[in-house]
Amino acid sequence: MVVVVAQDYDTMSREAAKIVAEQVRRKPTSVLSLATGATQFGLYAELVRMHREEGLDFSQVTTFNLDEYLGLAPDHPASFHYYMRTRFFDHVNVRPDRIYIPDGLAADIRQECQAYERAIRNAGGIDLAILGVGRNGHIGFNEPRTEFGSRTRALFLAKRTIEANARFFGGDENAVPRQAISVGIRTIMNSRSILLLASGKAKAPVIAQTVHGPVTEMVPSSVLQLHPDATLIVDEEAASQLKPSPEGFVPGPGTRTMVY
Ligand code: GLP
Repeated sequence: MVVVVAQDYDTMSREAAKIVAEQVRRKPTSVLSLATGATQFGLYAELVRMHREEGLDFSQVTTFNLDEYLGLAPDHPASFHYYMRTRFFDHVNVRPDRIYIPDGLAADIRQECQAYERAIRNAGGIDLAILGVGRNGHIGFNEPRTEFGSRTRALFLAKRTIEANARFFGGDENAVPRQAISVGIRTIMNSRSILLLASGKAKAPVIAQTVHGPVTEMVPSSVLQLHPDATLIVDEEAASQLKPSPEGFVPGPGTRTMVY
């Protein structure tokens, strides 16, 4: 597992955007899976800048978002549809018919989840999965105790997740949906490459568990230790509980890269 420690949030966002841009330039028809949450704000802003100023072309890219709340309309300001449209899709040239976000209003949720998995398979699988991580180790909305073999399905959100996400609902926990659709851990792990971003002191414990801890379903992000091409990009605060790598580190502009 490669861990890039960036000196600050903006450097973390720029380094992550470079990896995404390199993937898209290398394979213009790349299939990306996308995450939401505050951690990704800087990444999307940088990708938009690269599109506008450097001609980064998304016209042949296909995207699959990891998750969406159940019961929120796509124009609800706290929905991931709204997040992605306002922060990314309205500003770049991903074709609308190549944008996939789970439909939290689907009449038949089971059918929606099966269709989502089919769409990922039909797209040829995910080339690069971009992840955030919850304080409890959730990836997407795969909460602790999620089977590593899980596929896209509806699930209940953990209390800690509802509390953490209330900030997007005006601070009102009661307004946060209790259920969501999430791409499963097995589907995420089938991605050819994985890029996880984390920022801030609050994520330091879970980043240490992700890198050093036992691989356990109690900390879903720990499963990344088993992936052949997983890269974490974290800022110094989120890295503050990491042990030094036995191989030392490779310095870069505003970064140090360690391999575990
Ligand atoms: C949210 C999302 C995850 C995200 C995580 C971290 O619940 N479902 O995809 O990675 O929580 O969010 P943040 O980046 O705001 O800490």
